[in-house]
Amino acid sequence: MDIIGIGYMGFETADIEAWREYGPQVMGFGIGRSPQSDPDSLYFRIDDRRHRFAFHPGKIDRIAYIGWEAVGRMAFEDALKKFTAAGVEFTRGDAELCEKRGVRELIRFRDPVGYQHELFYAQKWTPRSFQPGRPHGGFLADERGAGHVVLITPEYTPELEHFLLEVMGFHWYGAGAGKGRTGFFRSKLNTHTSHDIAYGHGPGRMGVQHVGIVVNSIRDVGETYDIVRKRELPMMMTLGQHCQDPHVSFYHFNPSGFAFETIAEIEPWQGDPYELNPEVLSVWGHEMVGPILGPSVRTPEEVLDPEYLVSKR
Ligand SMILES: [Fe+2]
Repeated sequence: MDIIGIGYMGFETADIEAWREYGPQVMGFGIGRSPQSDPDSLYFRIDDRRHRFAFHPGKIDRIAYIGWEAVGRMAFEDALKKFTAAGVEFTRGDAELCEKRGVRELIRFRDPVGYQHELFYAQKWTPRSFQPGRPHGGFLADERGAGHVVLITPEYTPELEHFLLEVMGFHWYGAGAGKGRTGFFRSKLNTHTSHDIAYGHGPGRMGVQHVGIVVNSIRDVGETYDIVRKRELPMMMTLGQHCQDPHVSFYHFNPSGFAFETIAEIEPWQGDPYELNPEVLSVWGHEMVGPILGPSVRTPEEVLDPEYLVSKR
């Protein structure tokens, strides 16, 4: 399946006003124009796409959807055939939903855990239109996409791996250096980083562990770090450099209670000519100074839609 990576992500939040200030002032996100059919949601820009992150008002903070980008219409149509052949249930987004996401077409489907995904192509774009919310050197989105996400799954099953590898056509990267069961996967057309998505086994738990966002320079990491420290925002891991992707990053908790990993790529990714098995998570730094799971990791009943849970019983 010719997927570039994660094109956009959507979240529900109980405190949209906190995001309206935090997004631009801490992360440097630009605020995009909300679609007419969704005036109460907050749409953040990090490049010349119409948006990359959407925050919708909700009762609790939780992930709402992950939008995977097919490289174009033909790839999208091929994907629909593959989903049909594999017996994966999906629904087509109507004109209003496509307008909200700013895309030509999309489908919605769930992974075996129950997380909501979308597949789309052709999101609205205006060249040289991005303006950061504060002085910032910009984000390495464009051909990369919005970033990567690490999700917690209450069960790590063969069905989940089959779905990711055989249906979505992702590459298996490995289990990483963490303790416990974790799988790292990247989309077929991603040749820049080790993973677009990872699933970590957390019995009885679901939710976002962190979202990784790549900035253009180490200065943007440092300046974001200073702002986070000055505001005394809760940290998860200090500055450090991972083994699997040799980039510099740090992790702090955002207003929704999951971590943002702010990343600068200071060396090219080594690729994976064979399955890597890192001895340690990081070659330096990344001291764990907060919880590994934030408050946005909850029970499956809290994270999943009630109608979905009823239909599964
Ligand atoms: Fe990460």
